Amino acid sequence: MPVAALLLAATALNTAAPTAAVSTQMTPLSSAARDKINTLIGRMTLKEKAGQLSIFGVDQKNLAQRVADGEVGGTNGMLPAKAQGRQLPDYIRHMQDLAVHSRLGIPMWFMGDTIHGFRVTFPEPLALAATWHPSLVSRVMRASAEEATASGVNWTFAPMVDIGRDPRWGRVVEGAGEDPFLDEAITGAATFGFQGRSLSAADTMLATAKHLVGYGAVQGGRDYNAVNLSTRELKSVYLPPFQHVVKRGIGSVMAAFISLNDRPTTADGALINGTLRRDFGFGGVVVSDYDAVAQLQQHGIAASPRQAARLAFDAGVDIDLHSGTYLAQLPALVRAGKVSEKALDAAVRRVLAMKWRLGLFADPYRYLHAKTLIPHKAEHVTLARKSAEQSMVLLENHGVLPLKPNVGSVAVIGPLADDRADLLGPVHALGQPDRVVSILDGLRQNAPKGTQITYAQGVPVDGEDTQGIAQAVAVAKAAKVAVVVVGESNAMIGEGHSRSRITLPGRQRALLKAIKATGTPMVVVLVSGRAMALPWLHDHADALLDAWIPGEQGGPAVANVLFGKAEPGGRLPVTFPRDLGQVPLYYSYRPTGRPYNPADSYTTHYVDVANSPLYPFGYGLSYTQFAFGKVTLDHTTLGAHDVLHASVKLTNTGRRAGTEVVQLYVHQKVGQTNPPVRLLRGFKRVHLAAGASTTVKFMLPRSAFAWWDWNNHKVVAPGDYEVYIGANAQASNKADLHID
Ligand code: BGC
Repeated sequence: MPVAALLLAATALNTAAPTAAVSTQMTPLSSAARDKINTLIGRMTLKEKAGQLSIFGVDQKNLAQRVADGEVGGTNGMLPAKAQGRQLPDYIRHMQDLAVHSRLGIPMWFMGDTIHGFRVTFPEPLALAATWHPSLVSRVMRASAEEATASGVNWTFAPMVDIGRDPRWGRVVEGAGEDPFLDEAITGAATFGFQGRSLSAADTMLATAKHLVGYGAVQGGRDYNAVNLSTRELKSVYLPPFQHVVKRGIGSVMAAFISLNDRPTTADGALINGTLRRDFGFGGVVVSDYDAVAQLQQHGIAASPRQAARLAFDAGVDIDLHSGTYLAQLPALVRAGKVSEKALDAAVRRVLAMKWRLGLFADPYRYLHAKTLIPHKAEHVTLARKSAEQSMVLLENHGVLPLKPNVGSVAVIGPLADDRADLLGPVHALGQPDRVVSILDGLRQNAPKGTQITYAQGVPVDGEDTQGIAQAVAVAKAAKVAVVVVGESNAMIGEGHSRSRITLPGRQRALLKAIKATGTPMVVVLVSGRAMALPWLHDHADALLDAWIPGEQGGPAVANVLFGKAEPGGRLPVTFPRDLGQVPLYYSYRPTGRPYNPADSYTTHYVDVANSPLYPFGYGLSYTQFAFGKVTLDHTTLGAHDVLHASVKLTNTGRRAGTEVVQLYVHQKVGQTNPPVRLLRGFKRVHLAAGASTTVKFMLPRSAFAWWDWNNHKVVAPGDYEVYIGANAQASNKADLHID
């Protein structure tokens, strides 16, 4: 079978890996387009060129005048337009009018962080990753792009493809979790959702892979902090998702804020011009992060704005986001001979080529097909609810869920039960709290007729106030079941919001203890933007459902899952530790020379906490039970041209239909560099009726077994391997394989 056909087959079976069908076509521009762009560049002043390499905030002073003067390539943000009482499409039309009437009439582009919806707010990206459902994620981003582009926003700074292995870092909520294979599947699908097959369609938008690279590994989990990662760690864990989305035609990449191995990435030419452009073949535009060009001074590698501009430009950053340093400095740098005009032209050419691909030269108003903000489409609202349902992970269930239709009375308790803003998450484009259906309202509206719903807040999310606990205890006592909604608020997640603890903040634990003591069965719904350490809940909750940050339909989604109208469809995209002290804790760790042996203290362990996670990567319960048969491989020895077919019999042994996420992991027993104990290499969502069985098949090319050698080359090394198939990263069901 030719390689291309193999790849296609592997994709169909394993739900990951790009195909032409799900990639954006980045074919070369026509010669007419290239001529037009070159002619324009020939006519541009240095200031106009630097302007095309600049994006300003919509709150920039004298923005309109600057646009009219041809000094602004595009704008970022949408809130000030709202504050000015203008609707976004109206604002963007006004700006585009100014641009097309400027001296050269070059159209602008308009950015806005469209991360999980635009009008309708979908679940946060970490929740979407928990669906393990790439095509669903693609649909969510498609819907987001439709909404954003109707208003004129044609560039999003998403998806964030950063690997997040430290839950202290607030931005784990924006990513797809700890594993590169899952990350690629999810963020690759998101990219396709935003960009579609062609960027020039009026409802597709330019996507951005961010943040190149290693941002998730900030020391101590503190946002913006420095990062140190070995070359092999970068190549094997942090860079692959970037390479993957480049293969799928992503048009832009954002450099990270951080300094990586003592070099701020905004000034790292080996990374941007080398790894990204030369090695990965990226031909799109590279944008700095917000003010990051100017911040090279704070990083301590530039003494002046001029030096900062030069460092970033030389490294391959095409566009300065917000700091204005390029506009102020690049013309002078060219005049002084410090930056060549040829290099400047090349960057401008990349920018204009991307605007061309977006279709802006053909029609600067292409993305403004709505005069006012488009209404919230019912179809998108339904998608918001369904994706939230599919993302929720059932962590515990001791016979209490799904709630019986005749349960009679439910006490809804907790600081996040009657909350709206925190279900939206910290960055939510035009999402509005008043559109959010709270979990309390979701239960009121969706519980079976005749169910009595009572409510008490108990305690606030944070702080020491416990006065409300008594009332919460009273409502819990009077009900048949208590649903306690606890977790984190927007103030604890997202950019600039790292935590030094990953337990429940404030006095939420005291509330839970008091409710537990009533003896009323306690269902806990967790609203969280990260993996949390919740051993008490593990031991005491009668059921525990992680709802993540579920978006505006979080309430109905929780209600449907609790009452069994929907399955809790999610599986963990991150490992949940027992204690923060174990962090970073992830499933694909490396073996040590002293594996843990309880009889020998001088083996790897803590004296005060187990090594194992509280809930492993890939974990999640269902309302039914599944049994896995033996792992069967069609080869015991894989030759140079062989493809491996692995299969397992899956049976729904429970009494209702359900979906299992079947996961395949590989392990190389001996390598040149000690290979991780497991690597995810395939997954499938399989729906089975009660009592039904099926054979779940995976097809693995030899390359699925490749790992990094001592010289940082990815090789398939001859030797012994294991193939595990099961329900999470701790599956013990395996078969042995030898590779020749
Ligand atoms: C963030 C980026 C974001 C940008 C624009 C920055 O602070 O790091 O991820 O795209 O702001 O809003």
